[in-house]
Order: sequence, then structure tokens, then C-alpha cells
Amino acid sequence: MICMALTKGRIEKSALDILKKAGYDCSSLDAENKGRKLIFELGDSGISVVLAKAADVITYVEHGVCDLGIVGEDTIMEHGKSVCELLDLNFGICSFALAGKKGENFYDGYSHKVIASKYPHVTKNYFNGKGLDVEVVKIEGSVELAPLLGLADAIVDIVETGSTLKANGLEVYEKVADISSRLIGNAASIKMKRNEIDRLIGKVRSVLG
Ligand code: PRP
Repeated sequence: MICMALTKGRIEKSALDILKKAGYDCSSLDAENKGRKLIFELGDSGISVVLAKAADVITYVEHGVCDLGIVGEDTIMEHGKSVCELLDLNFGICSFALAGKKGENFYDGYSHKVIASKYPHVTKNYFNGKGLDVEVVKIEGSVELAPLLGLADAIVDIVETGSTLKANGLEVYEKVADISSRLIGNAASIKMKRNEIDRLIGKVRSVLG
């Protein structure tokens, strides 16, 4: 038996499409069957899927209550020090970017910089790598508001189509990292359930573009 935690929301459909293509019966997760349930069996494959928020996918896999997880690289970079990355799933492609008000030069002047982000750890690491000491303010969502309201000089956030930045008069100053969705695993599960996990990885890999 394998338990896989799957990030609900944005990447859920792409993750299920890959599992379906790989031959798994995902009908229990179809809209008409799903309801408010959170745990699903993939037919008689011996795989159960739990739907969780991205950061919780990491927590369940880290604790070994889920053997595998599907989650964005953004969440792994922020929270996932001790999970094993098994496969780049090549969907959910976007990037982390430093962005702010259009036409402003972030690096101008010597003033103390404030950066707003849902990803304080990623942001700190990025600026530490540049040898710059910045103040990071944690924001839970719609980070684009922070520079508009004057809380921050810039944001570090996910950019997918760029339309949220554009609609709010912001622009990318520089790319911080490329992101895609990953299959992750718990280190002990990978050893204990090697055959089952290898079989699943083989099937998923065979349908990746
Ligand atoms: C993410 C991200 C940006 C937006 C980028 O937010 O934080 O706000 O999507 O996408 P785009 O480049 O295609 O416009 P999300 O929609 O997850 O909502 P949140 O900010 O409330 O967390």
C-alpha cells in the first residue's frame, strides 16, 4: 500500500492527468464523485491519494505518514529540507521573481530594503547569496499589494503568466529561480517500499513528455 499526498488546487488537475495517463483509475477523484472527501483509492492499485495544501504535503511526507507527494518546487524550496525529490513532473511551470513597481530600479540608492513574500526563507536565501541584508515581511496572499500600499520596496513571488503583475502596474526586476512540480518521497518509504515506488515512478516517467 502506498499513500500519496497531492497538492489540491492549481496543480491538482495536471497531477491527476499524469496519473490517469500512467494507467491509474482516478475516477474516485472526478468532480461528480469527489464531494468533500479528502482520501481516495486509485481503483485496486493499492495506492491511496490524500488531497492537502502544498506545505502540508511536505509535512505528511516528511513524517512518513504519506510515502510520496506531488508538490511545487516553490514549496520544497521554502519548507522541504528533508524530503527526497524523485521526479520533475514538468507541469506547474512558473518562476520565482523579484518584482516591484514598473520603471523603478530596485538597486538604486543605499536605503534599507523591505521585501514582502509568501516565501520568507527563499527570499532570505536569495539575498544572502547576493550578500545583501534585507528585511523580509511575510504575507499570506496577494503579495502584489505590499509595494502598492508602500509596505515593501519589492516582492519575491511566483510568476506564471505575469498577468497579476501587469494588472497592478508591477514588473519583474529579475528571475530568482525556475519552478515546476515534483514527485517527492519519504526517505524511509523509498527504502521499505522500493518495488512499489519504483513501479509507480516507471509508469509516471513513461508518460512524461
Ligand atoms: C499566485 C502568485 C501570484 C499569481 C501569479 O497567487 O502568488 O499572485 O499567482 O500568477 P500569474 O503570473 O499567472 O498572474 P495565487 O493565485 O496562488 O493566489 P494568492 O496570492 O492569494 O496566494
